[in-house]
Amino acid sequence: MKPVSPFREITPKGNHVAVRFEAADLMLPRGENLAGALLVAGVMPFRHTPVSGAPRGPFCMMGACFDCLVEIDGVTRQACMLQVTDGMEITMPAARGTDDA
Ligand code: FES
Repeated sequence: MKPVSPFREITPKGNHVAVRFEAADLMLPRGENLAGALLVAGVMPFRHTPVSGAPRGPFCMMGACFDCLVEIDGVTRQACMLQVTDGMEITMPAARGTDDA
């Protein structure tokens, strides 16, 4: 994670809730797009590819590229298709398989 993000929050006075990404405790705006909120918080990368270990993060923000994959409650999901909710426990997806997507 980068300590300073080039992204800015649109509604900085929103209702923020506690979430965790890997070992980092974050306060993110409830109901906002999860991928966008993580970028604003300086989270990058979201995952590493299984074969080469290349870093990946949100690219399309519309559910097409799958570069924003994160794991929430043991399920791998697209962060750009989710809203921030209270208490999310987010981790990088575990490396599985041989596909380097
Ligand atoms: S950023 Fe492309 S699927 Fe989420």
